[in-house]
Amino acid sequence: MLRATGVTKAFGGLVAVDDVSFEIDDEEVVGLIGPNGAGKTTLFNAITGVYPPTEGEIYLNGTEITGMKPHEISRTGVARTFQTARTFNESTVLENVVVGGIFGNGDSRSAAEERARQNLAFVGLDDAIDEEVGALNLADRKLLELARALTTEPEFVLVDEIGSGLTPAELETLTDTLLRIRSERGISVFWIEHIMDAIMGSTDRIIVLNQGEKIADGTPEEVQQNQQVEEAYLGGVEV
Ligand SMILES: Nc1ncnc2c1ncn2[C@@H]1O[C@H](COP(=O)(O)OP(=O)(O)OP(=O)(O)O)[C@@H](O)[C@H]1O
Ligand SMILES: [Mg+2]
Repeated sequence: MLRATGVTKAFGGLVAVDDVSFEIDDEEVVGLIGPNGAGKTTLFNAITGVYPPTEGEIYLNGTEITGMKPHEISRTGVARTFQTARTFNESTVLENVVVGGIFGNGDSRSAAEERARQNLAFVGLDDAIDEEVGALNLADRKLLELARALTTEPEFVLVDEIGSGLTPAELETLTDTLLRIRSERGISVFWIEHIMDAIMGSTDRIIVLNQGEKIADGTPEEVQQNQQVEEAYLGGVEV
């Protein structure tokens, strides 16, 4: 279980994440939504050690991981993908995923490669393993990032937007893949997304941030009917 208590992250005078507490259970798919600048990516950065919180604690299965280095947190079982895909574009698909196993999990080259091949097959990129990443389309790059995250053998995968810029068919493939990560691998997914239809139809629970604060935490139905959530989005995306 992933648990955060009172997590705050300030950049100078700007409080990007403000006293946020939540829990994510094993094998749960939880959405994280909120208007642009609400603090969603910053919360992921706090959990994964990119920007350690200024206050509050984060626990993984009862062990405090607050303030650990990103590679240490990765090795305890928390993997992520990035809002803007971070890939080595001149390397092959296989090589990009192998790196996840070596640096994110401390594997030997051969163990990392074996798992990379399995995970590329799992996301449906087995035909593309020898291609240069720069030649992949956006949807395949998102699948590649998921394969790389899986290759660190996580218990939790944090996904920072996969839907933007995809066709409806690509979005369905990505959403199905996320749900299979839970159902076939038993891994929990914490998923930031702006595409409401995708996240409302595919999550057990949704957490809503607005100006750094958590304003709702409930089932998709509860969140959709929440007055504060509606107000946070007024003038923005429709919930
Ligand atoms: N490294 C940083 N230095 C200073 N301010 C930052 C930094 N990272 C984020 N911020 C600020 O923190 C606030 C929250 O940003 P964040 O990227 O977490 O929002 P978000 O909810 O992910 O938004 P979006 O939906 O647009 O991705 C914003 O005001 C942003 O400008
Ligand atoms: Mg963001």
